[in-house]
Amino acid sequence: MSKWIRGKHCQTIGFSIFSFLLGCMFTINLTPIDKTCKIEDTDREHNIMKNSKLKDPELIILVLSAPDNLDRRDTIRNTWLKLYDKRNEDSDINSFKMKHYFAIGSLGLKADQLLRLSSEQSEHSDILLLPMHDSYMSLTEKVKKSFVWLKDQYDYGLGFKYVLKCDDDSFVNLKALPVEISTMEHTFLKKDHRYTVQSNVQQSSFLSVNVQTNEKVVTGNVLNLYWGYFSGAARVKTRGKWKETSWIASDRYIPYALGGGYILSKDLVSYIAKNAEDLRSFNSEDVSVGFWLAPANNLLRAHDIRFDTEWTSRGCRNTHLVTHNISRQEMTIMYKNFVRFKSLCFKEVDKRSYYVYNWSVPPSQCCKPFTENVIRLQ
Ligand SMILES: *[C@@H]1O[C@H](CO)[C@@H](O)[C@H](O)[C@H]1NC(C)=O
Ligand SMILES: *[C@@H]1O[C@H](CO)[C@@H](O)[C@H](O)[C@H]1NC(C)=O
Repeated sequence: MSKWIRGKHCQTIGFSIFSFLLGCMFTINLTPIDKTCKIEDTDREHNIMKNSKLKDPELIILVLSAPDNLDRRDTIRNTWLKLYDKRNEDSDINSFKMKHYFAIGSLGLKADQLLRLSSEQSEHSDILLLPMHDSYMSLTEKVKKSFVWLKDQYDYGLGFKYVLKCDDDSFVNLKALPVEISTMEHTFLKKDHRYTVQSNVQQSSFLSVNVQTNEKVVTGNVLNLYWGYFSGAARVKTRGKWKETSWIASDRYIPYALGGGYILSKDLVSYIAKNAEDLRSFNSEDVSVGFWLAPANNLLRAHDIRFDTEWTSRGCRNTHLVTHNISRQEMTIMYKNFVRFKSLCFKEVDKRSYYVYNWSVPPSQCCKPFTENVIRLQ
């Protein structure tokens, strides 16, 4: 049992702030926080992971959220998280298990904010409080710290395979995603799938993929997945909220999956976590992840037009796995549509065009949008 280190030095930041502010008046239920905090056997969260059938979820959903966005979190809890089939948790075989966390920075919060988070946590046990100040300027730090925490959980027995990072204004089709993850595995990642070329472009109606490997032949089972809607041609921003003042790597960003939602294999999450302190963090977390993964070997980059993850949504499409930058009302409507009609959109609408990433040309030419705005899907 030595693998489960007892947490006698375990001191979570949220806890200390809380006790400092409120003395011992409350039972603190703020869950695991610091990477140095090895969770106690008696700890509720530990037991959730160790004992529950969710011990080995396929997918961790990491939703970046802000302390005061309770309304957004509640909307997510009441909409797309409900698309996940809870029966999976009771079934041992061939069922898809997932666990979600809302990542929030806990430093510098006011007493009333902590109180609200604490009661939210007692009710839902799904908040990952991180020892950092929460602001949009620190999203990259938040991703790093969350990955470090997830890697620790993995090392302590939570055996996930993928992490989906999204925002609290993203809608994830949790009915379709498990099926698509499995299709992805069978199409590209299964053991007997052999890639024989350095740069392998494969097309389906939704996907264009690229494999980066040092081997002459690589089998699917050693490939790590980086899956989302990629950009390779984006110019480095020099002004505005997302400006990068010290980017010198290249004229454009390194190809990266846009931040409204992307999926990483566990090994990529570990790789980033292990090197977190040595990796340069840029303002945009998604740009940073693309930059960090640029040198990774055995990497399968999958561009997928079902990830509607640009800064604003391209419209409503029933095939979308993730839709970003939508309001709580829109989330509720999509959820209700799904419950009633088994489709997200009452009527499919295209507001913007999309592109299929061309991996065989330089990144600056990768991403030419189709001129016609009508998406022709099979
Ligand atoms: C979408 O993003 C823009 C820019 O960040 C923001 O102003 C707008 O409120 C967002 N819309 C929704 C529905 O969240
Ligand atoms: C990518 O670009 C090359 C060169 O322009 C072109 O020959 C090829 O058909 C393109 N591939 C796709 C999938 O669009």
